[in-house]
Amino acid sequence: MKEPKYYEVKAEVVSVRELKHNVVTAILRSKEIADKTKPGQFVNIQVNNKNETVPVLRRPFAVSYTDGDNFEIIFDVVGRGTNILKDMLVVGEQVNVLGPLGNGFDINVNGKEKLLLAGGVGIAPIKKLMQYFTDKGDQVTLIWGNRDKSGFFDIDFFMDQNIKIFVATDDGSLGFEGNVLDILKSEIKNNNLKKINDYNIYVVGPNPMMKAVADYCSEMDHYCQVSLETPMACGIGVCQGCAVKKKKEDGYYLTCVDGPVFNSCDVEIP
Ligand SMILES: Cc1cc2nc3c(=O)[nH]c(=O)nc-3n(C[C@H](O)[C@H](O)[C@H](O)COP(=O)(O)OP(=O)(O)OC[C@H]3O[C@@H](n4cnc5c(N)ncnc54)[C@H](O)[C@@H]3O)c2cc1C
Ligand code: FES
Repeated sequence: MKEPKYYEVKAEVVSVRELKHNVVTAILRSKEIADKTKPGQFVNIQVNNKNETVPVLRRPFAVSYTDGDNFEIIFDVVGRGTNILKDMLVVGEQVNVLGPLGNGFDINVNGKEKLLLAGGVGIAPIKKLMQYFTDKGDQVTLIWGNRDKSGFFDIDFFMDQNIKIFVATDDGSLGFEGNVLDILKSEIKNNNLKKINDYNIYVVGPNPMMKAVADYCSEMDHYCQVSLETPMACGIGVCQGCAVKKKKEDGYYLTCVDGPVFNSCDVEIP
């Protein structure tokens, strides 16, 4: 029998932790999702618990880590759905999860070093990618930027990985003063990083950040992979609600099935 592309599961909440104000991480148990998720794929979680019917739409979140039968999500509490989700995540309870969804990062790229760039909670899918590359023994550099030092969480975890790590804040309250692209250019200039073309580059963060890095890569005749967080409804290619413009030709991609990860040469970052 052909394996399903994704599963609908009742995942048990194993643990929940508030990483900082309004940023929550949860570990959920589902063998299917933990086994099958590739870096960059996401899950769509039902957020109308307790037999309520609203909100109708699920909410999408990257899988940020897997361990045995467990998988992790990290999310910003920004509105109604994520506030409900935060309350639903009680250890021992179950949540309805659809996944793994979408196409993840292209990880079968040539043997260059890996440069991972994260803005804010964009660190979530980057963490799973880091796990994949470090398990494989690849050389990984992570640059993580936030507006100010309060944006960082679990920094010790990232420091403990066998990777090179740089942090930047817009206001200089931690690490380099400037954004992710500023620190990238500065570290290349100071010979702490190689030339941009010597890396496979993966970027997740706010659209302006991904656009700036994509433009820089393009100026250097290079590209990066970006993961878009286009608001979604169905998450499975049915509603057409997550269209993003193609770059090289007319037409649109659906972020949920063609992405969320795209080659920066192929897609107009909104
Ligand atoms: C593939 C994918 C993966 C994602 N992974 C993560 C993740 O790992 N961690 C995480 O914190 N968030 C992630 N998001 C974003 C997350 O899905 C939204 O923040 C969430 O759906 C908001 O739901 P809400 O009901 O709380 O907010 P709403 O009440 O719907 O909106 C509250 C505010 O958030 C804004 N907003 C809503 N959805 C998005 C979005 N997709 N992108 C940017 N702003 C939005 C709205 O414009 C509004 O200002 C991901 C989105 C996608 C498409
Ligand atoms: S969210 Fe429905 S088609 Fe993408």
